[in-house]
Order: sequence, then C-alpha cells, then structure tokens
Amino acid sequence: MASTLVSIIDGRPAEGSPAGTVSSPNPSRLTDLVAEVELADASTFAAACAAAKRAQQSWAGIPAPVRGRVVAAIGRIVEANRESLARLVTRELGKPYREALGEVQEIIDTCDFFLGEGRRLYGQTVPSEMPDKQLFTFRVPVGAAAIVTAGNFPVAVPSWYLVPALVTGNTVVWKPAEYAAASAMALFELIQAAGLPDGVLNIVFADGAATFGGLEQGLRGGTIDKIGFTGSTAVGVRIGELAGRHLQVPCLELGGKNPMVVTPSTDIELAVEGALFSGFGTAGQRCTSLGTIIVHESIHDEFLARFAAATSAAPVGDPAQDVLYGPMLDQRFATRFEEYLGWIQVHHKVLGSSGVGKIGPTNPRAGFIGDPETGLFYHPTIVDGVQPRDALFRQETFGPVVGVTTYTDMRDAIALANAPGYGLSSAIYTNDPREAFEFRRGISAGMVSVNNSTSGAEAHLPFGGNGQSGNGSRQSGIWVLDQFTRWQAMNWDYSGRLQKAQMDVADLTADLSYRLQP
Ligand code: UN1
Repeated sequence: MASTLVSIIDGRPAEGSPAGTVSSPNPSRLTDLVAEVELADASTFAAACAAAKRAQQSWAGIPAPVRGRVVAAIGRIVEANRESLARLVTRELGKPYREALGEVQEIIDTCDFFLGEGRRLYGQTVPSEMPDKQLFTFRVPVGAAAIVTAGNFPVAVPSWYLVPALVTGNTVVWKPAEYAAASAMALFELIQAAGLPDGVLNIVFADGAATFGGLEQGLRGGTIDKIGFTGSTAVGVRIGELAGRHLQVPCLELGGKNPMVVTPSTDIELAVEGALFSGFGTAGQRCTSLGTIIVHESIHDEFLARFAAATSAAPVGDPAQDVLYGPMLDQRFATRFEEYLGWIQVHHKVLGSSGVGKIGPTNPRAGFIGDPETGLFYHPTIVDGVQPRDALFRQETFGPVVGVTTYTDMRDAIALANAPGYGLSSAIYTNDPREAFEFRRGISAGMVSVNNSTSGAEAHLPFGGNGQSGNGSRQSGIWVLDQFTRWQAMNWDYSGRLQKAQMDVADLTADLSYRLQP
C-alpha cells in the first residue's frame, strides 16, 4: 500500500502540497506504488531553513558527548531496523537486497565512526609568542545546513551528511530525491526516534525548481549557512554559483567518468570481476560506477572476450533475488539512459548481452530473472573501441554501459584516464608497484583503487572528487568535519598589560656567523 508523505518542519507535518504531488513507484514493478509525495514550494523550503536556524543555538548548546550518544542511538536503531529499511530500498529503488543491506550497513558504520566524535571534537592549545598568554583553537558548528541528496544511495549518502552535521552541532534541512521519498522518510523516522529536539532535523520534499528557489531565499535571509549537494555536475555548477554569490563554499559530490586501467601484469580474471561489479552493479547508477576500461593493447582481446562472457552470463532482473543488478532507479534515468545508448556509433563494437536497450519480449535478455515487462530493466552494454572524441568516452553515462579503449604505455593510460575532466574514483589492476604509484601520482581522481573496483568505498576514508566531480570537498571520516565546522582561534592574555604581537616579543641574540672549526 502506498503511504502519503509530507514534509516535516519543526516536528510538524507541513500540511497541504502547494506544489502538487508526485508518486514514487517500484521500478521493478511499476504498478506497485510505494508512496504519494506532497511537494513543498520554495517558501515552504525557506520556512524549514528558518526553523533549522532557530533550533541551532540550543542544539549546539547540548554538550557534544551527549550529541554523540544521540548518534550512537541512531546507529543502534538503524541496526535494529536493518532488514526492513533494506527491503524498502529494494522496493523503492530496485537495488538488489544484498546491496541494499550493504547500504544500510554504511549508515551504521558512519554512526559507529561519529559517535566517538562527540567526545573528541578536538581543538588545540597553542603556545603564544609572549608570556602569560595562551592560544587555543575550537571547532564551531557552521550553523543550519541544507542537504540535497540523490536517490541512488537513498539512505547511506544522506547519512554521510546528516550524522557529522548533527554531532558537530549543526541543524539540518534535508531534501531527498522525490523518487526515493519513502526510503528517506523511513531514515528520517529512525533518526527522530533517537530523541532529536524539534527543528534540529527537518525533511522537505520538493522538486528541483522549488528547491533552488528555497535555497535562494534561505541564503538571502541568512538561514542557510552550508549547502551539501550530491547529484549531477550540471546542477552542482548552479548550486556552486548560487552559494558563491553568498560567499559560501558548498559540499559538492557530483558525477564521475571513472576509469579502470588494466595492465599486462594483472590477474585478468580479477580485473574482469572488478569491471563487472563496478560497471553494472546498481545498474551502473553509482557516482563511482566504472566509465571506461583502458586496457593494454597486448591483452585487449583476451580481456574483452572474458569480460563480455562474464557480462553475458551475469544474472539481471528481480532485485529481491540474487542478481547482479535490477532496474533503473526511476523513469527519468531510464529515459536518459536511452539517450546515452544513442551515442553508440558505427566504429564501436557492442557486446555483453543478447540485445541493447530495454529488456522485453521483443528484446529479451538470456537468463533474465523475473518478468522484464513489469519494470525498467536494461541490457548491460559493453562498447569497445571508444575514442577520446566520443561522447560515450567524455560524458558520464549513468546506467549499465561501459566503454573500452586501449593504451600502449602508462603515460597514455593516465592521459586517457584524466581526459574526460572528471575526477571522482579510478582503478588500476597491476602487480607492479611502480605502475600503481605512477598511476596514483598522475590520476586526477580523489579516490584510487589498486586491484579493486572503482566503486565500494569504505565509510571512513575521504570521499569526493575534483574537476567535474566536485569542488574538492570531502565527505566521511575525519575529513568531513571541515565541512560542518569552522576553526575559531582564541587568544587569552592574562599578563594584565597590552602585549603587542610581533612587537613586544623577547629576542635572544644569535651569532649567525658561527661555524664549526675545520
Ligand atoms: C554514490 O554513488 O553517490 O563507493 C556513492 C561506493 C559507495 C558510495 C557511492 N560506497 O560505491
């Protein structure tokens, strides 16, 4: 049965839907409606930001160790609801159940990491250049944060923002993707159950235009101190511009065209396994999904044959069963994916399945699990022979398509890997440590895997990208603390007189001409 979801602002449902309603269907069975979502308009979004701003001072006044215990409780509550949350993610987004369980685990891992931060949030004591004076640094919360997230990781990626933001004393307005609204609401409820006061976390359902308008109003009114955004590069550019006009640096986690270099020294089977998982896992809809395989020309034919065979044999279909991947997340991604398939040209060779495009009775996939007609299922597609001038090589293609090209020496491989101008994740398969480190030094990506796939980052390493993939911000682990706190410097002079820095400083006389006797 479909539930009706409304925004929750300051602990109260925001009644009415000034911007209409949308439905969130199950992408593997489109007749199964998961939720009806009432959409907020820009001023409702801005009202949520004002509520978050009002609640911020008193939330920051709660001692950090107590906030840490709230995070500990969130982790335990999510853990106790692991299966039902994962089942909902599978139903609403079509993510295979095992992967959905992994996604929920990523929330628990994030809470486990940050619960202790409440008892750290270290600042420093720093010596002064003058006597009877002491210097200190403090981490202070940024304020009220507006967090806008995508639906491909409907609960894990939001937790990367919400958990560190809350433990460091910020309040939050969370705007999840409309097509992931039920999963988002479930996470919101689990977080609320940990005892957050009203207004500390608010959830707003809105479309892109209302969100942008709400962000504009909030920034102008001084009720947004930080924006976090995970989504496309195109929208990230607009958010970056908007935030910049208000002298803010947003946390941007954008697209990727993640390369995988396969060298002759590697174990080809291991590289095939990594390519299969990162190319087609989550139907290629991770920001860390594999974009282009750059394989050494001497092993191209063998690698391609094995990769095509593995892809052709991979189980695709009903995400409740044991499949490599299920449907596209939502109709909009299916439609866009069909456009990307239109970029295949005559100089390309297509492999990996019994067809290309939407799987159905007239375009069947051998070994499909379940009924393809009920949902948004697409063939996995390998495109061999992509060239740097091809759109398929240059642009992110969110969906189950992987390009293949060749290189002759490591310098070419690195140049090809960097050419699209993204810089999120990357991988190299090699057994030569010199190659691994040469690649690490040369690659523009924020994340580098050696003998591992481009996706599957652990929840406590810095996550983020450069170039078209982001503005250098990093999430996760200790690194995200710099997104949600600012350093405050304090100096305390207890000498009872005005001691002027740089001027009233003692000077011991040094003999700089002193040399040892030969
Ligand atoms: C994303 O696609 O936005 O590294 C995040 C991974 C996951 C996170 C992906 N842990 O693939």
